[in-house]
Amino acid sequence: MSRELWSEVDEYICGHLLADDPDLARAAAASDAAGLPPIAVTANQGKLLELLTRIHKAKRVLELGTLGGYSTIWLARGVGVDGTVVTLELDPDYAALAGENIARAALAERVDLRVGPALETLAAMHKAGEGAFDLIFIDADKQSYPAYLEWSLKLSRAGTVLIGDNVVRSGGILDPTSEDGVIRGVRRFYELLADEPRVDATAIQMVGAKGHDGFALGIVSAPS
Ligand code: SAH
Ligand code: DHB
Ligand code: MG
Repeated sequence: MSRELWSEVDEYICGHLLADDPDLARAAAASDAAGLPPIAVTANQGKLLELLTRIHKAKRVLELGTLGGYSTIWLARGVGVDGTVVTLELDPDYAALAGENIARAALAERVDLRVGPALETLAAMHKAGEGAFDLIFIDADKQSYPAYLEWSLKLSRAGTVLIGDNVVRSGGILDPTSEDGVIRGVRRFYELLADEPRVDATAIQMVGAKGHDGFALGIVSAPS
C-alpha cells in the first residue's frame, strides 16, 4: 500500500460521488496559489464533515483552524441557509484569503471568521456567553488540542458533536517518548478524552491523498 494508491482511490471516490464543484476548486486553487500549506481536508473528508453536520442537523458550528476556508465551506454548506459557522484563525493573511474564498462561494453570510490565537478567542467567547455549539471541528495547532477540548466542552451542550482532525499522524501517536509537540498534544488529547466522563468518543484511521491520519469523533453527554 502506498500514498500513490491511496490518492488514486481518493480520486476514484471523489470522481464517483462528489459533483464537480467550482467554488471548492477555486478555493483550493487560490489557497495553493497564495502558498498556503497543502493541509486542508481532502474533498471526501470535507464531504464527510458536511454530511455529519447535516445528519446532526447542526445549525451552530465552531471550527478551530480556518486556513484558506476549505473545510469551512463544507461546514457552511452543512448548516444550511439558517446556520452559522464561527471559524477561528491565527494568521491574518490566511484569514483574509479564507474570507475571499468563502465570499466567492456565496457563504459569507453564514460564516463568522475571527482572527487571533484560538485560545484567546475561545476564552472571550465563553466570557461573552457564546455557545452552545451543535458541532465543533478541532483542526488548529495540535499542541493545543488538550486545551481546545476543554474549551470545546465549555461551549457545548448535551448532544454537541466533537470532531478532531489529525489524530493518527502516520502512527506517530504510538510513541510515548516523542518530544514532538504535535504528537504530545494529540496523545494528551486522547488521554483527556479517555478520562472525560462527559464525552463518548472514538477515532477512525484514514488513508488517502493526505497520507495516513484520522478523525476523532465524540458526543458530549452532559453539559459542563
Ligand atoms: N481546517 C482547515 C485546515 C486548518 S490547518 C481545512 O481543513 O481546510 C490549521 C490552521 O490552524 C492553520 O491555518 C493555522 O494557521 C491555524 N492555527 C495554528 N495555530 C493557531 C492558533 N493558536 N489559533 C488559531 N488558529 C491557529
Ligand atoms: C497537517 C495536516 C493537517 O490536516 C493539519 O490540520 C495541520 C497539519 C500536516 O500534515 O502537517
Ligand atoms: Mg487538519
